[in-house]
Amino acid sequence: MSKVKFYNGSNIPLEFHRARIVQKVNLLPIEERYEALVKGGFNSYRLDSKSVFLDMLTDSGTNAMSDLQLSAMMKADDAYAGSETFARLERAVEEVLGKRYTIPAHQGRAAENVIMRALIKPGDIVPMNYHFGSTVNHIKLNGGKEVELLNRDSFISNSDELFKGNVDLTLLEKCIEEYGRERIPFIRMEASTNLIGGQPFSMANYKEVRKIADKNGLKILLDATLLGENAYLITRREEAYKGASLASVIRTMCDLADIVYFSARKFTCSRGAVICTDDFQAKLLMDQVVAVFEGYVTYGGMSMKEIEAIIQGLYEATDEDYISQSPSFIKYFVDEAVKLGIPMVTPAGVLGAHVDAKLFCDHLRLQDYPSCALAAAYYLCSGVRAMDGGTASEGDPNNPLVFADMELMRIAFPRKVFTLSQTMYALDRLKWLYDNRKLIGPMTFDDIPGMQRCFRTPMKPIGDWPAKLIAKFKEDFGDSL
Ligand SMILES: Cc1ncc(COP(=O)(O)O)c(C=O)c1O
Repeated sequence: MSKVKFYNGSNIPLEFHRARIVQKVNLLPIEERYEALVKGGFNSYRLDSKSVFLDMLTDSGTNAMSDLQLSAMMKADDAYAGSETFARLERAVEEVLGKRYTIPAHQGRAAENVIMRALIKPGDIVPMNYHFGSTVNHIKLNGGKEVELLNRDSFISNSDELFKGNVDLTLLEKCIEEYGRERIPFIRMEASTNLIGGQPFSMANYKEVRKIADKNGLKILLDATLLGENAYLITRREEAYKGASLASVIRTMCDLADIVYFSARKFTCSRGAVICTDDFQAKLLMDQVVAVFEGYVTYGGMSMKEIEAIIQGLYEATDEDYISQSPSFIKYFVDEAVKLGIPMVTPAGVLGAHVDAKLFCDHLRLQDYPSCALAAAYYLCSGVRAMDGGTASEGDPNNPLVFADMELMRIAFPRKVFTLSQTMYALDRLKWLYDNRKLIGPMTFDDIPGMQRCFRTPMKPIGDWPAKLIAKFKEDFGDSL
């Protein structure tokens, strides 16, 4: 796994960085964790971070920055227009991603707003490997509709398929034939497909998608938010790219796309977002939207300090020591969890270790919101904040019997943040919970709001199962936190 072998035969990930600034974290007693859950409506997004021991909700904006990023922020040129910092960003985008025109926005979904407003018209169809929540909302808000092209096997959590993010090429051809290319502004490819467990697509598949796009005169939009990790897994899993540099794989992936965008909160360990392209007409259309919604086209809603951090982060995205850190911790966690019998998404993906909540809580029905119940129970027994990625967040608010494709709990591994002993603690408590899983009970909605409800909606347990879980915890752990 690691490029350094241990004399004692251990197969554990080894960090190639050192911590020089640290932040204290606090583990509350289980009774106070229960109070925090009640206050937060049993929705991990609504927990106060001071009640959280290990914040493994997401890697969005929570990756550790490097010393070079922090120091780069000090040289920001704050000029409203024509900033030197923007010129440096253009140069970094051209050098790392190979695109000529750079358009900044204040975060990933703002970039999606810009792209979809500029390029989608009512009645349009966007074929994609798989959706991300904010992407679909922006497509819909502009009168379009997504068509998803993953093979059904991609939703099997425990499998050997190395590239679950691949497009089913037959489905793509069928989609173009059925809707007609005039209605398709672009095909969207999402690197390290987030909602199925951070699963990559292969370069071979992507090149086939490019061929189909060319045959039909279509553009490709690459969501590069998790591009570094997808490129890293290509170098590990795809024969033709074994030994290739991350920089070259990233560059090839961008060369195959007409428009590339990323949330810098993930890709470059900073804040903000960037869109880039060689397509001058598309750039002109997008510039107009930026000027209305984001600010002037050389800062796009970001502070220049953030843009300096993005610039340095772009170069660091080609550094395997940095990029491999989170995937190798995730792989370690997933492999160990599987050995303990815990149902995980395999092969290990990126951004987090994903637990199959449907199998973990196989005594619950889908309408009991198992991944939400699992995330609440996991916080209760560990103080670890994980994310519910299932029906409570992905289902149809107007029809409780429409279920998400997968029922996952994500234990995120932001880059360079958690130590191996913290990782082992998170695993230990997950194993305890697995052994006591029958105590996890059903959840229900306190209310049913609309878009992005995962962020906001309070949930509540049905019955007194949290009290029973607390009692068992006290029995097994005594005074331990
Ligand atoms: C694949 C993908 N695309 C887009 C976004 C949206 O980015 P942001 O959270 O910066 O708005 C995210 C965020 O997690 C993402 O994972």
